[in-house]
Amino acid sequence: PVLVVDYGAQYAQLIARRVREANVYSEIVPHTLPTEQILAKNPAAIILSGGPSSVYAEDAPQQDPALFEAGVPVFGICYGFQAMAQALGGTVAHTGAREYGATTATAVDASILEGAPGTQTVWMSHGDSVVEAPAGFEVLASTETTPVAAFADEKRRLYGVQWHPEVKHSVHGQQVLERFLFAGAGVEPSWSTGNIIEEHVQRIREQVGSASVICGLSGGVDSAVAAALVQRAVGDQLTCVFVDHGLLREGEAEQVETDFVAATGVRLHVAEEKERFLGALAGVTDPEQKRKIIGREFIRSFEAAAEEVARSAAQEGEPVRFLVQGTLYPDVVESGGGEGAANIKSHHNVGGLPEDLQFELVEPLRTLFKDEVRAVGRELGLPEEIVGRQPFPGPGLGIRIIGEVTEDRLAVLRRADAIAREELTRAGLDEDVWQMPVVLLADVRSVGVQGDGRTYGHPIVLRPVSSEDAMTADWSRLPYDLLARISNRITNEVEEVNRVVLDVTSKPPGTIEWE
Ligand code: XMP
Repeated sequence: PVLVVDYGAQYAQLIARRVREANVYSEIVPHTLPTEQILAKNPAAIILSGGPSSVYAEDAPQQDPALFEAGVPVFGICYGFQAMAQALGGTVAHTGAREYGATTATAVDASILEGAPGTQTVWMSHGDSVVEAPAGFEVLASTETTPVAAFADEKRRLYGVQWHPEVKHSVHGQQVLERFLFAGAGVEPSWSTGNIIEEHVQRIREQVGSASVICGLSGGVDSAVAAALVQRAVGDQLTCVFVDHGLLREGEAEQVETDFVAATGVRLHVAEEKERFLGALAGVTDPEQKRKIIGREFIRSFEAAAEEVARSAAQEGEPVRFLVQGTLYPDVVESGGGEGAANIKSHHNVGGLPEDLQFELVEPLRTLFKDEVRAVGRELGLPEEIVGRQPFPGPGLGIRIIGEVTEDRLAVLRRADAIAREELTRAGLDEDVWQMPVVLLADVRSVGVQGDGRTYGHPIVLRPVSSEDAMTADWSRLPYDLLARISNRITNEVEEVNRVVLDVTSKPPGTIEWE
């Protein structure tokens, strides 16, 4: 693999993704991993990420010079560039000349900048600067305030740039990164969706042997792709369990029960649990209470269904030993892989499974990023409605009805939500919007007039947001005529609703969901 050494900024994941976009397999390792262990992974190349520190800060991570003597090509980025300079005898100084944001870099030599224009726009974010390159290095570029903005030692195959080639604001960033990978390090671009599938199918077969496997389907992308991969590997040894809690949006249960099954041929066990969830939610209005109830009932339903599946598998002579989970690479990195990275994500995952289930885990997506998961799903022939689906919370519409959850209210919200989604898709804006919760204020009523009559109906809230990772978000500036169409249609077609309002709050202070 190409290893990305994480100095604790949030850029390491982005770098690893960019490397994969170049069809090269990459992994993230913490900077605290000793050099011999890094080298023991047999890296084809190493990239040192940016980081929040100054090389002069008291606890600044140092780079062991041994890393540069192993003959492995290394590319230092921002902090990694400075750490490399310092480790090899160059000079890094507090020049007082800070650079933040878009800057013009002027090339003075080619090397990994070959093919890029003589002046290019790059994204900078640094206080310290390399003022003298280490012996053996050629300076490749400079900016107005930074004399050494990029350097290379072609003989030792060591390279570095002060800017962040991984962010899109660095216009030729991907090109520079690929120049390092292909020309500098001589890596082959062999990581493709087809290979990913082949490799994982092989690995799953080895892990599972002839045992039976179960998998919970939620209607979302990750569980669907994980299940489809396992199905591709072991066929009918896999049984999928779908707990229909009655809190999904219009058409989503059918997507799982009909379209997904048709596309994959997966063996499906459906647990119809609408009554159970509605019963447990009766009279409950407190959001946390709702989440707890839905989470608890989900686990109970899943366990009961899993037991049934296990019983029939045991009768067939192949007991269930494995449970498929759709864990993604960012979850792996964030829960310990990326030491030094600020731990920003510890999301309440209602709708997840308990940790003490008596199964070994199969996690076929553990090394993949979300966009790779989608690509794999498409290659496996999954329906676009599932593969392209925007994030949707485990507790479903249960936390989008403000007030008690009842069957009637669910029906109202489902119709309004379907209209909003349909219009958003028709406007071609699915990609621009991270997600658009549609919320029913079931305990609020307002006066309206429809035809000649007075109405006393409920408001619907539209909550379109744009986001990178759901940790922060901004409200999406949807075109007015789209908003007007959604509003007209909902108030015309959903009798109980006489008002549509737009949520114009960023996160923070508002969360994306209302409950
Ligand atoms: P908030 O409302 O916290 O949501 O800003 C952030 C993102 O997480 C989703 N979300 C959940 N996803 N189980 C999930 O699987 C949950 O319990 C849950 N609650 C919120 C939400 O839709 C948004 O994408």
